[in-house]
This record gives sequence, C-alpha cells and structure tokens, in this order.
Amino acid sequence: MSKTIKINGVDQPIDVDESMPLLWYLRDRLEFTGTKFGCGSGLCGACTVHVDGVATRSCILPVSSLVGKSVTTIEGLSKNGDHPLQKAWLDNNVPQCGYCQAGQIMNAASFLASNEKPTDAEINNAMQGNICRCGTYQRIKKAIKSVAY
Ligand code: FES
Repeated sequence: MSKTIKINGVDQPIDVDESMPLLWYLRDRLEFTGTKFGCGSGLCGACTVHVDGVATRSCILPVSSLVGKSVTTIEGLSKNGDHPLQKAWLDNNVPQCGYCQAGQIMNAASFLASNEKPTDAEINNAMQGNICRCGTYQRIKKAIKSVAY
C-alpha cells in the first residue's frame, strides 16, 4: 500500500522523492501554489501550513515525516475564501504585495484556534516569525483583533 498524506482533506500518494520538502510537493506536485517560497530555511514564515492543525513551515519538512498526517494549505482553510480571517484581511486591506499573506493567515488561524482572545503582546509574539517586507504588521494585527473581539 502506498504511503499517503492527507492534504486539504484528500489522501495524496507520496509519489515523489521522500526527502522532498512539503512546500515543493504542495506547489510542484499538487499545484497548491498559495503556499509561498520565501527563504527555504524556516526563517520567514511564507511557507506556513497547518500540520494536524498546528502552524508549520513547509520548506524544511520532508514529505517522509508527514505520512498519515493531515496538512491544510491556504486553499483548504475555507471552502470559498470565507474564513473569518480571510474576510478580515480583505476588510482591513491587509496585503500590499501579498506574497507573505497566505503564511500570515495560516499562522494567525492556528494561533487564534488556541487563543481566542489574545492580547496585543500575545499577537505580536505569535506573529513575530512571519516576515512581511511591505511592513503590513499593524494591519495584520488589526485584522486578527477584529476576528477576536
Ligand atoms: Fe519556509 Fe521561509 S520559505 S520559512
């Protein structure tokens, strides 16, 4: 029986080199291109997805480590882009260039699932590892707070 990873609710066969980082499996094999490559070293957060509900950097995670696990990408976060955070991102005009925003939203979604009423300091702490070169941090925080309060 072939090894599989559940991606956005569908079992997908691991038919690539098992050392391939999840990011490239998602983008190149499955064409879930919402997840972005930033640094490739686990440092910027652009590639953040959920693994069993926890925000995880997909660029440094070999697919071999994900057998039997459940991965959610930005494409699977909601059915029609209507997750409360996605709506808040639009309402608050968060993105500038937009490149890092899928990773930002995925990290925020995982964070809010574990802390529904975070303080400013908790938001800052949770989001500090997701880099935005456009400097949209204040709008990101505003959008997160609009969902929480
Ligand atoms: Fe994965 Fe930067 S691309 S953390």
